[in-house]
Amino acid sequence: MTETPGRLQGRRLALGITGSIAAYKGIELIRLLQAEGADVRVLLTPSAREFVGTLTLETLSHHPVDDDVLALQPDGKIGHIAAANDVEAIVVAPATAHWLGAMANGMAADPITAACLAASVPVIVAPAMDGGMYAHPATQANVAKLRGFGYRFVEPELGPLASGMVGQGRLAALQRIVDTVVAALSPAAQSMAGRHVVVSAGGTAEAIDPVRFIGNRSSGKMGIAVAEAALARGAAVTILLAGVSVPVPAAARVIRAGTTAEMQNALRGLTPADGPVFDALVMAAAVSDFRPRQAAAAKLNRDEGLTLELEATPDLLAETAARVRDAVAVGGRRPVLVGFAAETGSLDRAAEKLRSKGVDLLVANDVAEEGSGFGTDTNRVMLYSTDAAPEPWPQLTKREVAERLLDRIEARLRAADASAPSPRSAQGVSS
Ligand code: CTP
Repeated sequence: MTETPGRLQGRRLALGITGSIAAYKGIELIRLLQAEGADVRVLLTPSAREFVGTLTLETLSHHPVDDDVLALQPDGKIGHIAAANDVEAIVVAPATAHWLGAMANGMAADPITAACLAASVPVIVAPAMDGGMYAHPATQANVAKLRGFGYRFVEPELGPLASGMVGQGRLAALQRIVDTVVAALSPAAQSMAGRHVVVSAGGTAEAIDPVRFIGNRSSGKMGIAVAEAALARGAAVTILLAGVSVPVPAAARVIRAGTTAEMQNALRGLTPADGPVFDALVMAAAVSDFRPRQAAAAKLNRDEGLTLELEATPDLLAETAARVRDAVAVGGRRPVLVGFAAETGSLDRAAEKLRSKGVDLLVANDVAEEGSGFGTDTNRVMLYSTDAAPEPWPQLTKREVAERLLDRIEARLRAADASAPSPRSAQGVSS
């Protein structure tokens, strides 16, 4: 009987273990990565040495462990530089709050930060710490900064912690870490490495009173499919999250944007005057077109009847496109902007929306058609673009629509890189 080769057959990985109580799980992680066919060498921070023994790690990995940034290998090589040059990905699991802070600031006092600085390979980070430490704005800012470098995060899970408390801080299930490594090394993975894609997803809810709202039928499936596809291509992804009925990918950074006003704030934060902090914006959210002029402070009473006065919401996409144009005029970077248009019946208005909203691409679909629109797993769309005739796409799954759309976005980004005088650099993720 022939065995199927593992998903990491022949891949050379570095596993960085930092000083968390979850360090012992690093030992099992070596076995799982090896079971997929990987050759794993281990880097340790000094504090990780207090939790796991080098003899165990060297025996299992069949490599010397690098646990001292100043020490030379027996062959005279500098361990972290040799690792950086030799491996195809670096996995940091568990990653402590201290390590995230050190890495976010380029403080290379241990072999793992040093190797990450020296390497230009995918880095996968699985944090583990107390829930309060993980939630702290300092830690979250460090995570956001590292995502901006293109690092992929395997978010910690909610559960009992070493302190006896419960919180989001447990090292992610090891299989999730392995799967993320596999995704990071898949052939399509690198095509968007170093890019930052912002995707809005789901439907906004506009308050009538503290319990009622005006909403819409959006499930968020299309936006989440774009986010997942961009993550699989190695992009750093920020999701502006309105109401969705599907799981949100753990590796994305999430900004809650449940109302039009919250989404407007989030978009403004991502498009400062000196230029947007993203390479592409995919506005898949169903943003409400109307909202109550004034939300009631207390729950409305049925007996009193109800007449709602609605006001039109600002067009967030048009506003963002205008901010981007202003920034480009003063030398800011020009990202790719993508809008969606949900129509019923004819798509005639879509071409005009492309122009009036000031976007590069517009995905239009007839939401009244079967197999297209809200809540379905498929979509039949027409792609409008500033540089080509409208293109009808066949009925596709939402993931396939997302992949095709990202192909177009990537092509535009490559064309922009080719015409830009300076080499492309990763756009930072800031809030
Ligand atoms: N959109 C937005 N801000 C709004 C409404 C919509 O940014 N207040 C975005 C959506 O996320 C989508 C695109 O604009 O990418 C198209 O939305 P759609 O509702 O089809 O277009 P509208 O401009 O609202 O036109 P209409 O409702 O008149 O068809």
